[in-house]
Amino acid sequence: MLPTPSPSSPRRPAETKLAPSILACDFTRLGEEILAAHSAEYLHIDVMDGLFVPNISFGFPILEAARRVRDTHGSGQVLDVHLMIERPERYLSEFARAGADSLTVHVESTPHLHRCVQTVRDLGRRAGVVLNPGTPLETLTPVLGSVDLVLVMSVNPGFGGQKFLPQTYERVATVRRWLDEIGSVAELQVDGGVSADNARQLAGAGASVLVAGSSVFGPDGAAAGLERLRQSLGSEIGPEARL
Ligand code: DX5
Ligand code: ZN
Repeated sequence: MLPTPSPSSPRRPAETKLAPSILACDFTRLGEEILAAHSAEYLHIDVMDGLFVPNISFGFPILEAARRVRDTHGSGQVLDVHLMIERPERYLSEFARAGADSLTVHVESTPHLHRCVQTVRDLGRRAGVVLNPGTPLETLTPVLGSVDLVLVMSVNPGFGGQKFLPQTYERVATVRRWLDEIGSVAELQVDGGVSADNARQLAGAGASVLVAGSSVFGPDGAAAGLERLRQSLGSEIGPEARL
């Protein structure tokens, strides 16, 4: 069971979960990079089609490989698939089959957002919805009560390593308020330009999961990157959690 957020007891930043984005991995060492990030609660997988966003990343073979690595180390990490593709309804069952635990679709990518959420839940996976920085938050309203995850983009999607947009804090705080008002236990993610410089403030605004690519998979490795983020959130992993 996911923890129930309570408006009367403010969330503790140290409880915030991390979702390293493999987009920033060295792909010649994908398995090692994923293993080095095994202490994170989520593994974020960015799928881009060159149409919804002006970049092409990867698809089913990489997701299947990530699942195999996850299954060998048995961390129970959630494979969190962020679909930056037009008409994601065409591929939801295929992504579920390839190993996604969670499937997040952009509200801007389909006229059938509600159907997508229903389909993902019928597939037995966690259903997420995501908004670009320029999309009004109100577009969430029709599905807010039926999702397991809301993702607020803090950059325009398509590329790693972009600058964090500060208006994100207010957007996160608004979505947090709406989720709490309806008693939703959905996770609230933020994605893009997340680092030790903004993690604590994002958690304070109400984010429960922070996606981070370049600030995790840096030159000193994912374990060090994750620890920097945890320290900024006020928690550290113990040595026993490291490989
Ligand atoms: C951007 C992707 C992000 C990206 C984040 O479109 O959705 O998940 O990997 O990368 P950083 O953390 O480097 O901004
Ligand atoms: Zn992403």
